Amino acid sequence: MTKLNGIDRINTAVFISGTGSNLKKLIKFSQKKNSKFKISLIISNNYRAKGLKYSNIFKIKKKIYKFDSSKNEEKLLIKELKKNKIKIICLAGFMRILPKSFIKSFKGIILNIHPSLLPKFKGLNTHVRAIKNKEKYSGCTVHIVNSKLDSGKIILQKKIRVLKKDTPKTLAKRVLKQEHIIYPKALNKIAVNL
Ligand code: GRF
Repeated sequence: MTKLNGIDRINTAVFISGTGSNLKKLIKFSQKKNSKFKISLIISNNYRAKGLKYSNIFKIKKKIYKFDSSKNEEKLLIKELKKNKIKIICLAGFMRILPKSFIKSFKGIILNIHPSLLPKFKGLNTHVRAIKNKEKYSGCTVHIVNSKLDSGKIILQKKIRVLKKDTPKTLAKRVLKQEHIIYPKALNKIAVNL
């Protein structure tokens, strides 16, 4: 726990690979009075990830790891998480699959945001597949990460209509807007119960 504006907050790490728009929304929400979490660490597998800029903007520690499945690196990462008293990890556009051994060794909760209505469209290219499949609805899901890809307990989901004129790009944009709303809510929900 860390005190921020007089309130105890659960230390959270966010793992990113790219733009980091979800990371930004999580940080913004964390600064609110009713937030039960604090983003204390940003981790990336990609030193060029655009989202790493939020480390400087919001003065949050960042660390880069290769995520090449080396046992030594895994140990170092677990050590870093412990050092920062991290109780929750949020994967936010993190494009590596976490090794089972890591998921086992980390004693906290790992959350992920996925751009589909799970259990539909696990894995990549969700919007292309939703449109190809002529789905009436798509959306996004926040779920607990376990050792099976995109299969852990669902915490929150938001459904939106797929429009006739939608392309994967326009659908992705509308779904992302919803991701920005449900991810902080889902994280807060988990943090309140810790
Ligand atoms: C989001 O659509 C997320 O669901 C997916 O990758 C995208 C990441 O966006 N896994 P950002 O990096 O948070 O902007």
